[in-house]
Amino acid sequence: MMSSSDRSLERLIADWDGEALVSRHDRETDTWMFIGIHSTRLGPACGGTRLRVYPNPADAARDVLRLAEGMTLKCAAAGLPTGGGKAVLAVPALPVGETRRQVLLRYGRLIETLQGSYRTGPDMNTGAGDMDVLGEVTRYAFGRSPERGGSGSSAPDTAVGVWHGIRASCAHTFGTADLAGRSVLVQGAGGVGSALVELLVADGAKVLVADVATERVRHLERRYGIDPVDPAEVIGTACDVYAPCAIGAVLTATTISALRCAVVAGAANNQLGEPGDAERLRAAGILYAPDFVINSGGALHLIGTEMLGWDAATLAARLAGIGATLTEIYQHADDEGTTTEEAAEAIARARLSAAPPADPPSYRG
Ligand code: NAI
Ligand code: PHE
Repeated sequence: MMSSSDRSLERLIADWDGEALVSRHDRETDTWMFIGIHSTRLGPACGGTRLRVYPNPADAARDVLRLAEGMTLKCAAAGLPTGGGKAVLAVPALPVGETRRQVLLRYGRLIETLQGSYRTGPDMNTGAGDMDVLGEVTRYAFGRSPERGGSGSSAPDTAVGVWHGIRASCAHTFGTADLAGRSVLVQGAGGVGSALVELLVADGAKVLVADVATERVRHLERRYGIDPVDPAEVIGTACDVYAPCAIGAVLTATTISALRCAVVAGAANNQLGEPGDAERLRAAGILYAPDFVINSGGALHLIGTEMLGWDAATLAARLAGIGATLTEIYQHADDEGTTTEEAAEAIARARLSAAPPADPPSYRG
């Protein structure tokens, strides 16, 4: 007998325009493994592995399908010769120790069977240590630790990309990319946010920081003299630039009407609560840097360094290119009277349709 969530899973897959959804149930840990291969048109489908507890498997599948499509747009907009994919390990509880290692090894073997059609990396709740484990059984894990031959954390380069994006956004809004005296509110002082704070402080920006982990904010306050902001007060706090670097869905009908900034430009994935929020931002006169463009520094770091053999100078130039791409997007949006999100998607889709049709993915051959 099919439950309603099973039926919705069928509908989800039928309505999706991606190439394949690979699934496996890991009996030992009751973990659902989903790998969404959205597009291999520009190259192998790349995207991180998210480890999360979901209410049911259909929610995990919905997440992976949506996120895989986002990676197709991210890679295309970044000019990478890679497609989009994503994986979700829907676990009953976040695994630790030997259980974590064993489930990762079984998942890594599943990736290896895809023969490079899907290449993974870190994402929510996974890091270099997990990629090291995957690397024991598959060739297709980016972001292993440097001791294991990987390129390590992508967070610092994601921050560099966001910094270029903030400068380009300020140039468009205020007529100068100079950040001296500009107020920037960084929400989330994790790997990306704290590296971004350092870059902004070096530029002479007035930096405000909010994080639910208050010790992280205190550390930055001691080190750089930033201004702490209560995490619950982020949305109503006046600033030039709001940089979401923590959670998604921070831009909704409710929050947008309360924002007191001129620019939203940060690293968090899936910042818009729903597609219509891009238009709400435009109507409010707030410049929005599409998340999948401004946060592509992580993908450039992982794929550029490990798959394309870029040296440091090439990577630095490509990270700077994030600013140039945003400038192009803002111009396009102004010229066409569209949202910046629509302009960014148009640029990504134009790159996709200019590519010759992909060969059948190698997992079929
Ligand atoms: P992280 O896990 O190192 O840091 C996230 C920080 O946000 C933590 O300090 C956490 O305490 C804080 N936080 C959580 N909820 C919060 C809230 N409601 N208000 C304020 N702070 C809150 O993550 P990381 O790597 O710094 O990534 C940040 C964002 O950027 C995430 O959305 C991630 O998906 C996205 N991203 C990261 C990339 C990377 O290379 N690390 C690449 C592309 C996107
Ligand atoms: N998960 C990160 C992102 O969303 C980093 C990543 C990029 C992982 C590309 C694998 C491949 O950008």
